[in-house]
Amino acid sequence: TYKAVILLGGPAKGTRFRPLSLDQPVPLMSIGGYPLIFHHVEACAAVPGMREIILIGYYPKDQLSQFVDECQRKFGIRMRYLQEFTPLGTAGGLYHFRDQIMLGDPAAFFVMNSDVCCDFSLADMLAKHRPGTYTVMCTEATRSQSVQYGCAVIRKGTDEIMHYVEKPATFVSTMINCGVYILSPSIFQYLKSAVKVHKDAHFTFDLSSQCNECVQMEQEVFQPLASRNCLFAYVTTRFWSQVKTAGAAIYANRHMLELYRTSHPDRLATAQSIPDGPKIIGNVYIHPTATVSPTAVLGPNVSVERFVTIGNGARVRESILLQGAVVRDHACVLFAVLGSSATIGEWTRVEGTPTDPNPNKPFAKIETKDLFNEKGQLNPSCTVIGSHVSVAPETIVRNSIVLRAQRVGSQLQKPNYP
Ligand code: GDD
Ligand code: GTP
Repeated sequence: TYKAVILLGGPAKGTRFRPLSLDQPVPLMSIGGYPLIFHHVEACAAVPGMREIILIGYYPKDQLSQFVDECQRKFGIRMRYLQEFTPLGTAGGLYHFRDQIMLGDPAAFFVMNSDVCCDFSLADMLAKHRPGTYTVMCTEATRSQSVQYGCAVIRKGTDEIMHYVEKPATFVSTMINCGVYILSPSIFQYLKSAVKVHKDAHFTFDLSSQCNECVQMEQEVFQPLASRNCLFAYVTTRFWSQVKTAGAAIYANRHMLELYRTSHPDRLATAQSIPDGPKIIGNVYIHPTATVSPTAVLGPNVSVERFVTIGNGARVRESILLQGAVVRDHACVLFAVLGSSATIGEWTRVEGTPTDPNPNKPFAKIETKDLFNEKGQLNPSCTVIGSHVSVAPETIVRNSIVLRAQRVGSQLQKPNYP
């Protein structure tokens, strides 16, 4: 039997996702109409012999309980959220909860970063996994982008990882760590020694400092394990992307909708599936509770969440509309994420700039640029309208991040649009 662990991180993470991450944990960001980690759970639940899926993070429990309940019901699989009292790092959490993970003696367990979106193909990965070893999903990146990831030098033929460096200062390899692993139970002996080495190195008499608990899988376990004939790569050429920004969410959304064409065609809206519905172009997801005018035009690559309202003559393209968002008549939304209950006024135009990978460079990944460039200007990116923000009618909002409508007393003040 197998288990799976999804590393969620916590509220300190997801800064590049603000303001969307202020309302909701980043792992629950909607991609293709479902929370980002729903796709992880779905992939794990499909692995034969999967016993339990464990989520580890430092978000408050109540922020995940509904998600856990819904998934358990939908997939009929045991799921739990285990909360870290303080960030323990990508290895520290696994070690801390080792008894829970090993309960029931799984032959191996999957470990996944929550902030990736991909065509998991876990059954194939499992088929290539050698019992007793550790398998790391890898994919090719460009020379210049590879250094923003964990880099693995792989021996041709055996796929053994000979050398591993996490976010190297100079070029090491174009093969990068996808943040998806299959680990044999013997990993805990290495986690134990990594935790010990870490504690000895960071020992302090100051008991209030809990930082010495934060142990990283990549630097403190994979780096020393490389070339010891137990760390192997599973190289994927399928879709894979990190999801750390709203622009990356729009990019991942597009690919997830495309994957639905073969995996879940029923999730895509068509003229047949919504009679008297809007005009649909390309891949579009519309939650059954959304209200969309028949004269609206949606797509390609649009996800419409529950209780969204889209008015007459509205145009939405390459965008994610979160729960309860309202697009009033004749408004236009392009390359944008509308936060929950955001309202776009009549004839208003909300437009962003795509931050897609360079299509002319093979293996290019999405750039997770900082919000501002070195001159202090906002880098052009997709537009994000924060939750509950209302944009006035007949307004143009381009390449902007609108945080929040400010409430002063009980009066709702109109935000200043940049
Ligand atoms: N539970 C828990 N506790 N989860 C954590 C913690 C923690 O203290 N710290 C990070 N995580 C989770 C994050 O939420 C994320 O899903 C994952 O662990 C890795 O996050 P980071 O530590 O921020 O690393 P990264 O995303 O910059 O790089 C990692 O992923 C890349 C692929 O996306 C590394 O594994 C790279 O090697 C890899 O290339
Ligand atoms: P591409 O060549 O595919 O990029 O289309 P385009 O040249 O029309 O470019 P653009 O990205 O500006 O527009 C995308 C879609 O949105 C088009 O189909 C337009 O008809 C529609 N659109 C653009 N601006 C508005 C607008 O202000 N209101 C409405 N209702 N629709 C708009």
